[in-house]
Amino acid sequence: MGNGIAHVFAQNGFDVSLVDLNPDQLKQALTTISKNLDRQVAKGTISSTEKEATLGRIKMFSTITDGVNSADLVVEAATENTALKLDIFRQLDLATPPTTILATNTSSISITKIAGVTKRPAQVIGMHFMNPVPVMKLVEVINGYATSKATTQLTTDLSLKLGKIPCVVNDYPGFIANRILMPMINEAIFSLYEGVAGVSEIDTVMKLGMAHPMGPLQLADFIGLDVCYSILQVLHEGFGNPKYAPCPLLTNMVSAGFLGVKSGEGFYAYSQGDLRVSSRFA
Ligand code: CAA
Repeated sequence: MGNGIAHVFAQNGFDVSLVDLNPDQLKQALTTISKNLDRQVAKGTISSTEKEATLGRIKMFSTITDGVNSADLVVEAATENTALKLDIFRQLDLATPPTTILATNTSSISITKIAGVTKRPAQVIGMHFMNPVPVMKLVEVINGYATSKATTQLTTDLSLKLGKIPCVVNDYPGFIANRILMPMINEAIFSLYEGVAGVSEIDTVMKLGMAHPMGPLQLADFIGLDVCYSILQVLHEGFGNPKYAPCPLLTNMVSAGFLGVKSGEGFYAYSQGDLRVSSRFA
Protein backbone atom coordinates (compact mmCIF):
# COMPACT_ATOMS: atom_id res chain seq x y z
CA MET A 1 0.00 0.00 0.00
CA GLY A 2 2.84 2.38 0.87
CA ASN A 3 4.33 2.27 -2.61
CA GLY A 4 0.91 2.85 -4.20
CA ILE A 5 0.28 5.86 -1.95
CA ALA A 6 3.73 7.31 -2.76
CA HIS A 7 3.05 6.70 -6.48
CA VAL A 8 -0.25 8.60 -6.44
CA PHE A 9 1.08 11.59 -4.44
CA ALA A 10 4.21 11.89 -6.63
CA GLN A 11 2.21 11.55 -9.85
CA ASN A 12 0.02 14.43 -8.72
CA GLY A 13 2.96 16.79 -8.13
CA PHE A 14 3.73 16.28 -4.42
CA ASP A 15 7.27 15.74 -3.12
CA VAL A 16 7.29 12.42 -1.30
CA SER A 17 9.62 10.97 1.33
CA LEU A 18 9.19 7.20 1.32
CA VAL A 19 10.28 5.78 4.68
CA ASP A 20 10.99 2.16 5.53
CA LEU A 21 13.47 0.84 8.07
CA ASN A 22 14.50 -1.86 5.60
CA PRO A 23 16.49 -0.50 2.60
CA ASP A 24 15.61 -3.63 0.56
CA GLN A 25 11.91 -2.83 0.96
CA LEU A 26 12.59 0.70 -0.30
CA LYS A 27 14.36 -0.63 -3.40
CA GLN A 28 11.51 -3.08 -3.98
CA ALA A 29 8.96 -0.26 -3.58
CA LEU A 30 10.69 1.90 -6.18
CA THR A 31 10.83 -1.03 -8.61
CA THR A 32 7.09 -1.62 -8.14
CA ILE A 33 6.27 2.07 -8.63
CA SER A 34 8.41 2.16 -11.76
CA LYS A 35 6.66 -0.96 -13.19
CA ASN A 36 3.22 0.45 -12.45
CA LEU A 37 4.18 3.76 -14.09
CA ASP A 38 5.42 1.77 -17.14
CA ARG A 39 1.96 0.24 -17.34
CA GLN A 40 0.47 3.75 -17.48
CA VAL A 41 3.02 4.84 -20.12
CA ALA A 42 2.19 1.74 -22.22
CA LYS A 43 -1.53 2.64 -21.95
CA GLY A 44 -0.75 6.23 -22.98
CA THR A 45 -2.28 7.70 -19.81
CA ILE A 46 1.04 9.38 -18.91
CA SER A 47 4.15 10.21 -20.95
CA SER A 48 7.62 8.83 -20.21
CA THR A 49 8.63 12.38 -19.17
CA GLU A 50 5.83 12.36 -16.59
CA LYS A 51 7.02 8.95 -15.40
CA GLU A 52 10.55 10.26 -14.83
CA ALA A 53 9.21 13.42 -13.13
CA THR A 54 7.08 11.25 -10.83
CA LEU A 55 10.04 9.08 -9.85
CA GLY A 56 12.14 12.23 -9.37
CA ARG A 57 9.71 13.48 -6.69
CA ILE A 58 10.22 10.37 -4.51
CA LYS A 59 13.10 10.37 -2.02
CA MET A 60 13.81 7.38 0.18
CA PHE A 61 14.71 7.32 3.87
CA SER A 62 15.42 4.48 6.24
CA THR A 63 14.86 6.45 9.46
CA ILE A 64 11.59 8.07 10.48
CA THR A 65 13.21 11.29 11.73
CA ASP A 66 15.02 12.16 8.50
CA GLY A 67 12.03 11.28 6.34
CA VAL A 68 9.37 13.35 8.09
CA ASN A 69 11.08 16.33 9.74
CA SER A 70 9.70 18.88 7.26
CA ALA A 71 6.54 17.05 6.10
CA ASP A 72 3.17 18.82 5.93
CA LEU A 73 1.41 15.44 5.99
CA VAL A 74 2.49 11.94 6.91
CA VAL A 75 0.53 8.88 5.72
CA GLU A 76 1.51 5.89 7.83
CA ALA A 77 1.08 2.54 6.04
CA ALA A 78 2.80 0.01 8.29
CA THR A 79 1.47 -3.48 8.82
CA GLU A 80 -1.89 -3.86 10.62
CA ASN A 81 -0.53 -4.18 14.16
CA THR A 82 -1.83 -1.87 16.89
CA ALA A 83 1.30 -1.80 19.08
CA LEU A 84 3.48 -1.03 16.05
CA LYS A 85 1.22 1.80 14.86
CA LEU A 86 1.08 3.35 18.34
CA ASP A 87 4.85 3.25 18.52
CA ILE A 88 5.18 4.88 15.08
CA PHE A 89 2.73 7.65 15.99
CA ARG A 90 4.62 8.41 19.23
CA GLN A 91 7.75 8.82 17.08
CA LEU A 92 5.96 10.86 14.40
CA ASP A 93 4.59 13.22 17.04
CA LEU A 94 8.13 13.98 18.18
CA ALA A 95 9.74 14.05 14.72
CA THR A 96 7.33 16.34 12.82
CA PRO A 97 6.53 20.06 13.16
CA PRO A 98 3.47 20.67 15.37
CA THR A 99 1.40 21.72 12.35
CA THR A 100 1.91 18.43 10.45
CA ILE A 101 -1.18 16.29 9.88
CA LEU A 102 -0.64 12.67 10.84
CA ALA A 103 -2.78 10.30 8.77
CA THR A 104 -2.95 6.53 8.97
CA ASN A 105 -3.86 4.13 6.18
CA THR A 106 -5.07 1.60 8.77
CA SER A 107 -7.78 -0.79 7.54
CA SER A 108 -9.49 -1.08 10.90
CA ILE A 109 -7.49 0.07 13.93
CA SER A 110 -9.09 2.87 15.96
CA ILE A 111 -8.02 6.36 14.82
CA THR A 112 -9.02 7.67 18.25
CA LYS A 113 -6.68 5.21 19.96
CA ILE A 114 -3.81 6.11 17.60
CA ALA A 115 -4.48 9.85 18.10
CA GLY A 116 -4.44 9.29 21.87
CA VAL A 117 -0.70 8.62 21.93
CA THR A 118 0.04 11.99 20.29
CA LYS A 119 -0.16 15.58 21.57
CA ARG A 120 -2.16 16.59 18.49
CA PRO A 121 -5.29 14.38 18.35
CA ALA A 122 -7.14 17.10 16.38
CA GLN A 123 -4.61 16.61 13.56
CA VAL A 124 -4.79 12.82 13.40
CA ILE A 125 -7.07 11.23 10.80
CA GLY A 126 -7.64 8.03 8.82
CA MET A 127 -6.78 8.16 5.12
CA HIS A 128 -7.66 4.67 3.95
CA PHE A 129 -6.65 3.95 0.35
CA MET A 130 -7.78 0.82 -1.50
CA ASN A 131 -5.53 -1.64 -3.31
CA PRO A 132 -4.30 -1.22 -6.06
CA VAL A 133 -3.95 2.40 -4.96
CA PRO A 134 -3.21 3.86 -8.43
CA VAL A 135 -6.45 2.30 -9.75
CA MET A 136 -9.04 2.46 -6.98
CA LYS A 137 -10.93 5.76 -6.71
CA LEU A 138 -11.96 5.64 -3.06
CA VAL A 139 -10.27 7.23 -0.06
CA GLU A 140 -12.16 6.41 3.13
CA VAL A 141 -11.50 9.46 5.34
CA ILE A 142 -12.00 8.50 8.99
CA ASN A 143 -12.62 11.07 11.70
CA GLY A 144 -11.27 10.10 15.11
CA TYR A 145 -13.27 11.29 18.14
CA ALA A 146 -11.11 14.44 18.41
CA THR A 147 -10.27 15.07 14.72
CA SER A 148 -10.89 18.74 13.88
CA LYS A 149 -13.12 19.91 11.04
CA ALA A 150 -10.10 21.69 9.51
CA THR A 151 -8.15 18.41 9.38
CA THR A 152 -11.08 16.61 7.73
CA GLN A 153 -11.50 19.40 5.17
CA LEU A 154 -7.81 19.42 4.33
CA THR A 155 -7.79 15.64 3.91
CA THR A 156 -10.83 15.55 1.66
CA ASP A 157 -9.47 18.45 -0.46
CA LEU A 158 -6.16 16.64 -0.74
CA SER A 159 -7.85 13.37 -1.77
CA LEU A 160 -9.57 15.26 -4.60
CA LYS A 161 -6.20 16.68 -5.70
CA LEU A 162 -4.97 13.07 -5.94
CA GLY A 163 -7.84 12.30 -8.35
CA LYS A 164 -9.64 10.25 -5.67
CA ILE A 165 -13.17 10.40 -4.27
CA PRO A 166 -13.13 10.90 -0.48
CA CYS A 167 -15.88 9.44 1.69
CA VAL A 168 -15.98 10.71 5.29
CA VAL A 169 -16.93 8.18 7.97
CA ASN A 170 -16.68 7.93 11.76
CA ASP A 171 -14.31 5.89 13.86
CA TYR A 172 -15.94 2.56 14.79
CA PRO A 173 -14.37 -0.88 14.24
CA GLY A 174 -13.69 -1.58 10.56
CA PHE A 175 -15.10 1.87 9.62
CA ILE A 176 -17.36 1.24 6.58
CA ALA A 177 -15.18 -0.52 3.98
CA ASN A 178 -14.04 -3.41 6.12
CA ARG A 179 -17.10 -3.61 8.35
CA ILE A 180 -18.99 -4.65 5.22
CA LEU A 181 -16.25 -6.31 3.15
CA MET A 182 -14.74 -8.61 5.81
CA PRO A 183 -17.96 -10.34 6.94
CA MET A 184 -18.58 -11.10 3.24
CA ILE A 185 -15.10 -12.58 2.84
CA ASN A 186 -15.44 -14.51 6.12
CA GLU A 187 -18.82 -15.89 5.01
CA ALA A 188 -17.27 -17.02 1.71
CA ILE A 189 -14.57 -18.85 3.71
CA PHE A 190 -17.24 -20.43 5.96
CA SER A 191 -19.10 -21.57 2.82
CA LEU A 192 -15.92 -23.31 1.63
CA TYR A 193 -15.17 -24.73 5.13
CA GLU A 194 -18.68 -26.16 5.43
CA GLY A 195 -18.49 -27.70 1.95
CA VAL A 196 -21.32 -25.66 0.45
CA ALA A 197 -19.24 -25.09 -2.70
CA GLY A 198 -15.66 -25.04 -3.99
CA VAL A 199 -13.32 -22.07 -4.44
CA SER A 200 -14.16 -21.49 -8.12
CA GLU A 201 -17.89 -21.84 -7.58
CA ILE A 202 -17.96 -19.37 -4.68
CA ASP A 203 -15.91 -16.80 -6.61
CA THR A 204 -17.83 -17.34 -9.85
CA VAL A 205 -21.18 -16.80 -8.12
CA MET A 206 -20.01 -13.45 -6.75
CA LYS A 207 -18.27 -12.36 -9.97
CA LEU A 208 -21.04 -13.24 -12.40
CA GLY A 209 -23.97 -12.86 -10.03
CA MET A 210 -22.97 -9.62 -8.31
CA ALA A 211 -20.58 -8.09 -10.85
CA HIS A 212 -17.65 -8.10 -8.42
CA PRO A 213 -14.34 -7.78 -10.32
CA MET A 214 -12.82 -10.52 -8.14
CA GLY A 215 -14.59 -13.21 -6.13
CA PRO A 216 -14.29 -12.90 -2.32
CA LEU A 217 -11.70 -15.71 -1.99
CA GLN A 218 -9.47 -14.26 -4.70
CA LEU A 219 -9.89 -10.83 -3.11
CA ALA A 220 -8.91 -12.28 0.30
CA ASP A 221 -5.72 -13.68 -1.28
CA PHE A 222 -5.08 -10.29 -2.91
CA ILE A 223 -5.54 -8.35 0.37
CA GLY A 224 -3.54 -10.95 2.35
CA LEU A 225 -5.16 -13.57 4.59
CA ASP A 226 -3.20 -12.28 7.60
CA VAL A 227 -4.64 -8.79 7.01
CA CYS A 228 -8.20 -10.21 6.69
CA TYR A 229 -7.65 -12.16 9.91
CA SER A 230 -6.39 -9.08 11.81
CA ILE A 231 -9.32 -6.96 10.62
CA LEU A 232 -11.84 -9.64 11.67
CA GLN A 233 -10.16 -9.77 15.09
CA VAL A 234 -10.56 -5.98 15.41
CA LEU A 235 -14.27 -6.28 14.49
CA HIS A 236 -14.75 -9.26 16.83
CA GLU A 237 -13.08 -7.57 19.80
CA GLY A 238 -14.42 -4.09 19.04
CA PHE A 239 -18.09 -5.12 18.86
CA GLY A 240 -17.87 -8.18 21.14
CA ASN A 241 -20.14 -9.95 18.67
CA PRO A 242 -19.39 -13.58 17.69
CA LYS A 243 -20.66 -12.96 14.14
CA TYR A 244 -17.26 -11.40 13.33
CA ALA A 245 -15.13 -14.33 14.61
CA PRO A 246 -12.69 -15.45 11.89
CA CYS A 247 -13.58 -18.77 10.27
CA PRO A 248 -11.38 -21.59 11.72
CA LEU A 249 -10.17 -22.35 8.17
CA LEU A 250 -8.86 -18.78 7.85
CA THR A 251 -7.17 -19.08 11.25
CA ASN A 252 -5.45 -22.32 10.19
CA MET A 253 -4.30 -20.91 6.85
CA VAL A 254 -2.78 -17.86 8.53
CA SER A 255 -1.09 -19.99 11.22
CA ALA A 256 0.40 -22.18 8.48
CA GLY A 257 1.70 -19.18 6.52
CA PHE A 258 -0.67 -19.58 3.53
CA LEU A 259 -1.33 -15.85 3.17
CA GLY A 260 -2.42 -15.53 -0.47
CA VAL A 261 -0.56 -13.68 -3.23
CA LYS A 262 2.24 -12.44 -0.95
CA SER A 263 3.24 -15.97 0.18
CA GLY A 264 2.53 -17.65 -3.19
CA GLU A 265 -0.51 -19.65 -2.04
CA GLY A 266 -3.85 -19.12 -0.34
CA PHE A 267 -7.15 -20.21 -1.85
CA TYR A 268 -5.30 -20.07 -5.17
CA ALA A 269 -1.69 -20.98 -6.05
CA TYR A 270 0.33 -18.25 -7.76
CA SER A 271 3.58 -20.00 -8.69
CA GLN A 272 2.53 -20.97 -12.24
CA GLY A 273 1.88 -17.38 -13.33
CA ASP A 274 -1.85 -17.98 -13.88
CA LEU A 275 -4.78 -18.19 -11.48
CA ARG A 276 -5.38 -21.78 -10.39
CA VAL A 277 -7.18 -23.10 -7.33
CA SER A 278 -4.74 -24.36 -4.67
CA SER A 279 -4.36 -28.15 -4.79
CA ARG A 280 -5.59 -28.21 -1.17
CA PHE A 281 -9.04 -27.15 -2.40
CA ALA A 282 -9.08 -28.68 -5.90
N1 CAA B 1 -0.99 -0.52 -10.27
C1 CAA B 1 -1.39 0.29 -11.25
N2 CAA B 1 -2.35 -0.05 -12.15
C2 CAA B 1 -2.87 -1.30 -12.06
C3 CAA B 1 -2.48 -2.21 -11.08
C4 CAA B 1 -1.49 -1.78 -10.16
N3 CAA B 1 -1.05 -2.55 -9.17
N4 CAA B 1 -3.20 -3.36 -11.24
C5 CAA B 1 -4.00 -3.16 -12.30
N5 CAA B 1 -3.81 -1.92 -12.80
C6 CAA B 1 -4.55 -1.29 -13.89
C7 CAA B 1 -4.30 -1.90 -15.23
O1 CAA B 1 -3.20 -1.29 -15.90
C8 CAA B 1 -5.60 -1.63 -15.96
O2 CAA B 1 -5.64 -0.28 -16.41
P1 CAA B 1 -6.62 0.19 -17.62
O3 CAA B 1 -8.03 0.11 -17.10
O4 CAA B 1 -6.18 1.60 -17.88
O5 CAA B 1 -6.38 -0.76 -18.74
C9 CAA B 1 -6.65 -1.76 -14.86
O6 CAA B 1 -5.95 -1.54 -13.63
C10 CAA B 1 -7.28 -3.12 -14.86
O7 CAA B 1 -6.24 -4.09 -14.73
P2 CAA B 1 -6.17 -5.45 -15.54
O8 CAA B 1 -6.86 -5.31 -16.86
O9 CAA B 1 -4.76 -5.95 -15.54
O10 CAA B 1 -6.90 -6.48 -14.63
P3 CAA B 1 -8.36 -6.52 -14.12
O11 CAA B 1 -9.33 -5.95 -15.09
O12 CAA B 1 -8.51 -7.92 -13.66
O13 CAA B 1 -8.36 -5.54 -12.86
C11 CAA B 1 -8.12 -5.06 -10.59
C12 CAA B 1 -7.48 -5.71 -11.80
C13 CAA B 1 -8.19 -3.54 -10.79
C14 CAA B 1 -7.20 -5.37 -9.40
C15 CAA B 1 -9.56 -5.64 -10.42
O14 CAA B 1 -9.52 -7.04 -10.38
C16 CAA B 1 -10.25 -5.15 -9.17
O15 CAA B 1 -10.82 -4.07 -9.13
N6 CAA B 1 -10.25 -6.00 -8.13
C17 CAA B 1 -10.86 -5.67 -6.84
C18 CAA B 1 -9.96 -4.72 -6.10
C19 CAA B 1 -10.51 -4.39 -4.76
O16 CAA B 1 -11.61 -4.74 -4.34
N7 CAA B 1 -9.71 -3.62 -4.01
C20 CAA B 1 -10.03 -3.26 -2.66
C21 CAA B 1 -9.43 -4.27 -1.72
S1 CAA B 1 -9.75 -3.86 -0.04
C22 CAA B 1 -8.55 -2.79 0.35
O17 CAA B 1 -7.65 -2.48 -0.38
C23 CAA B 1 -8.63 -2.17 1.68
C24 CAA B 1 -8.52 -2.96 2.87
O18 CAA B 1 -8.51 -2.33 3.91
C25 CAA B 1 -8.39 -4.41 2.96
